[in-house]
Amino acid sequence: MKQNRIYYGGDYNPDQWPEEILDQDIPLFQKAGVNLVTLPVFSWAKLQPSEDEYCFEWLDRMIDRLWEAGISICLSTPTAAQPAWMSRKYPEMLPVDISGLRRTHGKRVNFCPNSKIYRHFSTRIAEEMGKRYGKHPAVALWHVANEYGTYCYCPQCEKEFRQWLKQRYKTIEELNARWNLAFWGHTVYDWDEIVIPSERNDDYRFYQPVYLDYRRFMTDSNLNCFRAEYDILKRYSPEIPITTNISGFIQQLDQMKFCKYVDIAGWDNYPWPTDPPARVAMKHDLMRGLKHGKPYLMIEQAPSQQNWQPYNVQKRPGELRRISYQAMAHGADSVMYFQMRQSIAGVEKFHSALISHAGHENTRVFREMAQIGRELSAIGGQTVGAVTKSQAAFLFDWDNWWAVEGSNGPSKDLRYLEQVEKYYTGFYKRHIPIDFVSVEDDLSGYKVLAAPLLYMVKPGFADKVRNFVREGGTFLTTFFSGITDENDRVTLGGYPGELSDILGIWVEETDALRPEQSNCMKGLGTPFQGSFSCGLLCDVVHLTAPDTKALCIYGEDYYKGSPCVTCRPYGDGYAYYVATDPEPRFIDELVGLLISECGLAPALDAPDGIETSVRENENGRFLYILSFQKEDTIIDLSQTGKHFRNIVTGQKAENKLLIKPFDCYILKEEI
Ligand code: GLA
Ligand code: ZN
Repeated sequence: MKQNRIYYGGDYNPDQWPEEILDQDIPLFQKAGVNLVTLPVFSWAKLQPSEDEYCFEWLDRMIDRLWEAGISICLSTPTAAQPAWMSRKYPEMLPVDISGLRRTHGKRVNFCPNSKIYRHFSTRIAEEMGKRYGKHPAVALWHVANEYGTYCYCPQCEKEFRQWLKQRYKTIEELNARWNLAFWGHTVYDWDEIVIPSERNDDYRFYQPVYLDYRRFMTDSNLNCFRAEYDILKRYSPEIPITTNISGFIQQLDQMKFCKYVDIAGWDNYPWPTDPPARVAMKHDLMRGLKHGKPYLMIEQAPSQQNWQPYNVQKRPGELRRISYQAMAHGADSVMYFQMRQSIAGVEKFHSALISHAGHENTRVFREMAQIGRELSAIGGQTVGAVTKSQAAFLFDWDNWWAVEGSNGPSKDLRYLEQVEKYYTGFYKRHIPIDFVSVEDDLSGYKVLAAPLLYMVKPGFADKVRNFVREGGTFLTTFFSGITDENDRVTLGGYPGELSDILGIWVEETDALRPEQSNCMKGLGTPFQGSFSCGLLCDVVHLTAPDTKALCIYGEDYYKGSPCVTCRPYGDGYAYYVATDPEPRFIDELVGLLISECGLAPALDAPDGIETSVRENENGRFLYILSFQKEDTIIDLSQTGKHFRNIVTGQKAENKLLIKPFDCYILKEEI
C-alpha cells in the first residue's frame, strides 16, 4: 500500500475512556488535521478479558467511526502489556532482572522475550487481529507491540542462550576459544556449564565476551517476538507495511539488525530540552540509515511537556513545528505524537496531548498542532518517499557500542555516541548531508567514510575500508580503534590491529587522562596551524609507512612531539587518524579540510544555526530550511542559481529569504 500523504496523528488510548468520548474527539481530530491514529497499543486486557474470551466489538466500532470521519488507523497489536490475569496464571512469563529477581505484574514491556506462554498468547491475538482487520480499508499500517527492549535473565533465557551459542559456535572448543575462557580458568566442558550474566557473578562488567553475546542474544530474542507477530500479520495483509516503534535511540537492541525485519523503520523522538539540534538531527539520520536511506516514521513525539524528565520543560511557541519539520527534513514521512488525549491518572497524566485536560481546542498546544496539520495537508503527498543523497557516510555499529562501553579500561568516560556526535556535528554545521551505514552496507557511492572510535573491527570490514580507500575514498578514524575482533579479543601485533597498514601507524600505548587533565595538539603548518586542546585518551603513535604524514603533534607530557593527527595516502585515497579527543574547534577545521579535499558542497551555504537539507523524489527536489538562530537571518537563494516555490504557501521564493527564529521552510526547486 503506497503512502500518499504525510501521516499526521498518533497514539490514542481509547480503552481509558467511555466510548462516547469519540463524539468529542473526532471533530477535534478533524479540526487539527489528524489523518492517522495509533491504537489500541495498551488494550490487551480489554481485548482479551480471559484466556478464551476475545472482545473486539468496541474496537470495530471505534475503527469504523474513525474511518468514516476520514481518519486511517495505525493498528497496533496490544502485546507490549499483557493482562494481569495472564501474569497471575503464568508467572513464569514475567522477566527476571539481572540481580535474579523475578518482577511482579505491572508497568509494561514486562515479559520474558523467550517465554513460550508470551509467544503463544501474543501470536494468538495477532492472529485474531490479522483475521479481523487485515482487509479493513482503514488500516494503513501495522504497529507491533511497543518499544521492545526487555532484557531477561530467567532460567528459560539461560536455556535458550545455550542453544543460541551452540548454533553460533558449534563446538565447545570453539566457544572456549572465542570467549577466551582460559582467562581466570573459566573453561567449560559442557554447554550446561555456561552461566548467563548476573550481578551475582559479576559477568556483566567483568567478562565482556559473554556480556556481548548476551546482548546479541537479547536482540534476537526480542526480534523473534516481533517476527512471530510479523509473519502472521503479513499472511492476512501482505500489502500493509509493518513497523514497530524504537524507544528513542536505545543501546539495548541492535537496531540495525532489528530493522532488517521491519517494513518501515519508526522511532519515538523525545529530545531533552538541552539537546543541541545536531544531536536530534543525528538520531534522525541514524534512523534513516536503518533501512539504507529509505524514509522512516517518527511515530511519537510530545506535543509539549513530557512527564518522565526531571524538569519537564514546555515546548516554546514554534518549537513543536520546528522539530516536526526537522524530522521531515531528515527523512520522516510522518509527524506523530504521543498522545491524542491526555490521561486522567497514572504516570502520564501530565504528559501533553492534542486534547488536554481542558477538553477543548482553545489551547496554545492545540492551535500549534492544528497549524502543522493544515500545513501538512497543503503539502499533501509531494514529499513522501523522497530521499537524501549523500556523499559522506558515518559507520555506526551496535556491537562496537556495547564493546567500547562494556570494556574495563582505559577510561570510564568513553562514550561511543558522544564521539560519533562530535564529528557528525562538524559536518552538520557545514550543511553536509550524512548517511549512517552499517558494516554490511555498500560504501561505493561515498567519498568520505568516518568511523570514530572503531574499537571493534568485524571480520571483513578492514578489507572493505582498504578497498574503499584504494578506490579514492577518504577514511577517518580516531583513537582506541582497531583494538578487538567481534568477540572482544584483542588483535595481536600492535594497535590499531587490522587498520594499521591502511593508516600507516602503530599505536604503542594509550594514555587515559583524568577529567581535569588535558594535553594540546600543535599543527605543523598546512593544513593545521596553532594549538588545540585535547583530552580523554591520548594514543602514543609511531609512523610506520614512509608516506604517512604527521599533521599535528602533542604539545605536552613525555609523548610531546609525537604525532597525534596523521594522514596516509593509500591507493587513490587517504586515511586519517586522530589519536586523541580534540576540542570542537579542531574537528571543525578537520571536517573543513575533508570537505574541500573531497569536493563535497552543501546545497546551500548558510550560517551555523540554520539547518538545511535536501530530499528528492519523482516530484522534484525539496530544500528544507529551519532556523535555530535567536535572530533574523537572511539567506541568499540566488547562490544556488535556482528558483524555488514554498510548498506550504505556494509563494515564490527567490533571492533573499528572511528567516525568523523558529521559521521552517520547504522550498521546491522550479524547473
Ligand atoms: C514512550 C511510549 C509511549 C508513552 C511515551 C511517553 O515513547 O511508547 O507509550 O509512554 O513514551 O513519553
Ligand atoms: Zn527470560
